[in-house]
This record gives sequence, C-alpha cells and structure tokens, in this order.
Amino acid sequence: MSHQESAQELPPHILIFPYPLQGHVNSMLKLAELLCLYELHVTMLLSDFNHNRLLLHANAKSHFARYPGFRFVTIPDGLPEDHPRSGDRILEILLSLKETGGPEFRRLMESTDCLSDAGARRPITCVIMDGVLSFAIPVLEEKGIPYIYFRTISACSFWAYFCIQEIIDAGEVPLKGKDEDKLTYWKREEMDSMVKSVPGMEGILRRRDLPGFCRVNDVNDPGFQSIKIETGKSIKAKALILNTFEDLEGPVLDQIRKHIPNLYSLGPLHAHLKARLAAKTSKILRASCSFWKEDLSCLTWLDSQPTKSVIYVSFGSVTQLTQNELSEFWYGLVNSGQRFLWVMRPDSIIGNDGERQIPVELEEGTKARGYLVGWAPQEEVLTQPAVCAFFTHSGWNSTLESITVKMPMICWPYYADQAINSRFVSEVWKLGVDIKDTCDRMIIEKMVRDIMVVRREEFLQTTDHMANLARKAISEGGSSYDNLDRLIEFLRAMIV
Ligand code: UDX
Repeated sequence: MSHQESAQELPPHILIFPYPLQGHVNSMLKLAELLCLYELHVTMLLSDFNHNRLLLHANAKSHFARYPGFRFVTIPDGLPEDHPRSGDRILEILLSLKETGGPEFRRLMESTDCLSDAGARRPITCVIMDGVLSFAIPVLEEKGIPYIYFRTISACSFWAYFCIQEIIDAGEVPLKGKDEDKLTYWKREEMDSMVKSVPGMEGILRRRDLPGFCRVNDVNDPGFQSIKIETGKSIKAKALILNTFEDLEGPVLDQIRKHIPNLYSLGPLHAHLKARLAAKTSKILRASCSFWKEDLSCLTWLDSQPTKSVIYVSFGSVTQLTQNELSEFWYGLVNSGQRFLWVMRPDSIIGNDGERQIPVELEEGTKARGYLVGWAPQEEVLTQPAVCAFFTHSGWNSTLESITVKMPMICWPYYADQAINSRFVSEVWKLGVDIKDTCDRMIIEKMVRDIMVVRREEFLQTTDHMANLARKAISEGGSSYDNLDRLIEFLRAMIV
C-alpha cells in the first residue's frame, strides 16, 4: 500500500474543545469516547489547569490510553493558578480564554499540518466545540475547517437563550425593580409573571424560570450580552449537538430545528456511552473525569444504610453557598429526620478557604444521620440501593444522571440554565419539586420529607416512565442511537 493510499484510509480526525468547567468537560469527554468506539481519531483540547487536575485526581488519562486514536492537547486559560474558577467568577474564564486562549488556539490550528501527528492522523477534519467559544471561529473559517456546536445544556435552555432577542422585544427582560427581600431580590410580582415570547413555552415559564443570565436590569449586562451573542452564532455551525433525547424534549427540539435543521440529540450521553460499551465488551471500566479527588468512602457508608433511605445532596462543580444558605440547608436536612450524603467541595462556601469549611458544630451535628464528602463518584452514588432522592442545583448532567436512574429531585437552581431545567423537572416532566429563590430550613425540611416519604409513590411512577424512555432512546433503533450513527456518517462524509 502506498503512503498516499494509507493516508486516505485514515478515519476522520475530530478536535473536541469544551469550555473548561467540569460539567462541560464531562459530557464532551463522553462524546469523545463514543467517537473513539467508532474508531474516529479524537484530539481533546483542555486547559492546562484542568488537564493537570485530571492527571492528579482522575483516571481519564490511563482510561483513554486504550484508544490509539485519542489524545489530549492543552492550552493555557490565562488565569492565575489560584483563581477560584467557580461561583460568580466563571465569566472571567471566558474573557481570559478569549484573550489568552484565542491566540493559543490559533497557534495550535496553525501548527504542523494542523495537528496531523506526523501523518499518523489526518489534519483536523472537523472541530466539535462548546457553543460558547465563538472566538475560535475566525481561524477555523480562515483555514476552511468545518465546526459543529455542542451545547452541554438542555434543549429548553438552549431554546430560551436562542429567543433572547424576542424576550427583550417583548419587554420581559430587562427586569425592572428590586425587592427589599434579599432572597427574592427582584420583585416577586414581576418574577412570577408569565413569559410569552418563547415559542412553545407559553404557560410554562415565569420570568424567574428564565436562564439566570436574564436577571438583569440592563440589556447591556456583559454576561447577558455574551450569552445572546454566542447563542446567535449557533446557526453558522455545520450542526448542533445536544445532550438530550427526543422523548424528553421533542417539542423544543422541533422549535430549534426550524432554525438549525442539522441537529443531533444524542443523550443521555453518560448512559449512551455505557450502553455502547456494554455492546462491545463485558468489562466496562468507568473513566473518572473528576477535577477533585473522589471520596470513595461514601460508597462504603451508603452500603451500611437501609435501602431507599438517603437523599444525595450536591450542587455541582461551580455553585457557592453563603454561610446563611449553608445553615438553612443543614438545619432543613437534619430536621427532616432523613439520612443524607452531602457533597461539599473545598471551595463550596463563599468566603472560606481551605480544605474543611463547615462550621464544627454543623459537622458534629451531622454525624447522626449525615455523611459529608468533598467530591463523590456521583454516577455511582446515584445507582446505590440506599439512595432514593437527589437534592440538586439542576445542572444538566446531574439532571440527566438522575433521570436515567429514576431519582426524584429537589431542585435548587443556582445560575445559568439551571433555572429553566428545574422548571421543566417540576412542571413539565413532573420528576421533582422546584424550590428556586427560597432558602428556608422549614421549606427544605418539608420538601425532603415530601420527596422521600409523602409523595414517594407519585414520583415512582413518573421517574420510572422517563427512565424507560431514556433507555429506549439509547437502545438500538432509538432516537439518540440513530442520531449518533447519523452524526458519524456526517463526519465521515467530510473526508470524501
Ligand atoms: C454546569 C452547568 O450547570 C450545567 O447545566 C451545564 O450543562 C454544564 O456546566 P455543573 O454546574 O457542574 O455544570 O453541573 P452538572 O451539569 O450537573 O455537572 C456536574 C458533573 O459533575 C456531573 O456529571 C456530576 O456527575 C459530576 N459530579 C458532581 C461528580 O462526579 N461528583 C460530585 O461530587 C459532584
């Protein structure tokens, strides 16, 4: 075989570029592994900072070594090592990436044969990039490299982002007044008024359910503008990938398809990957992609708890609580009389630095029925027999991970897409309760009892139904299964 012929036989080479946050990296790594299963070549672009954390805390590097076509490359995110990269500082990651990562990304794209690895792989066939990184587009256009957008959020959130101009035109944002009540902040009456400008969501969304970026009193707010501009650019991409499934978000996906017809719903990706792996091998080894060290002792603790007796509490990788919120949650949980496993990252509490941030009296009082860890193997935790509910911030990965294992949710959204996810969880899919904009120990105590005891039967039915639909979507002939096949064909066709 001549050198030229063998080069022609090389598979497509896909560069995957996630926004450098845990939730984004998690779902995009799942897609990366799925592409590897189809024997595509994949280059995963991470920030130096996150790559180092993966090396320190996770087995992702050794896990992916089994795929010869996979490799990591890195660029700096431009932030100092000690930048928090969480809470209300995460927009700074995007700004810094644009400034520092932008030129670095260009250098990468202009490097020898565009990362062809001395002929071992093709020059990049296509870039699958997080749909908030549009600074990468100019160099891709210059070099004629096609790109696909991957949004790690739900279709309902994406659609609300997509309709931001309509929301502004309808006068539904900016918000007008602030409240003296610090928790609700914006005037209750205004926040409870229905949104009419998002097609298909009339009668569902109140203003308080709009993505967190919409809580502004000035349309020129940088976060709001940034999300509007980034989402508007989605129509320029060759395709859009969403981590969702047709039976969950079909009507919203149809709305999006009117503007972006080449849409691939592939989710739930974590379960889709597991199913595809199971079809190939009997021994499935999980890739841990955690930026924090997983505390496996919680699995032992869960083993010693009665069946269906524990509520799992985690607010994802970015949420930060005030001391007051921490107290309200803690008293609510303890007063409910139920057992709980609570993930408290080292940087979870505002104003506290260091490893352990929980006031000693709270930690002491937790010992009776609670267990605290800095980071958990969440997907595994949610499948443990002892766990029967999830107190979540409604991050999209957490929501999907819950849905697939029939876990009812108490939703306390923190920012961005989470406010709309939690509304859909409670009002549309009926998979849990939404307590957004409240943080009161009495309410939490009641909700914990409701979800674990009082309304348990009711949620058993809805969660069971949705989990079955998710399983169907990723099984042979299901919508996500077929969409993945279509995506692979689409990528392969790019090299013809
Ligand atoms: C954010 C957004 O909130 C989310 O909606 C978006 O899709 C991606 O970015 P994050 O806030 O971290 O992500 O929440 P989530 O999407 O739920 O992702 C958290 C991930 O970390 C999940 O995959 C979860 O399994 C994992 N996790 C969380 C752990 O492995 N251990 C933990 O202790 C907590």
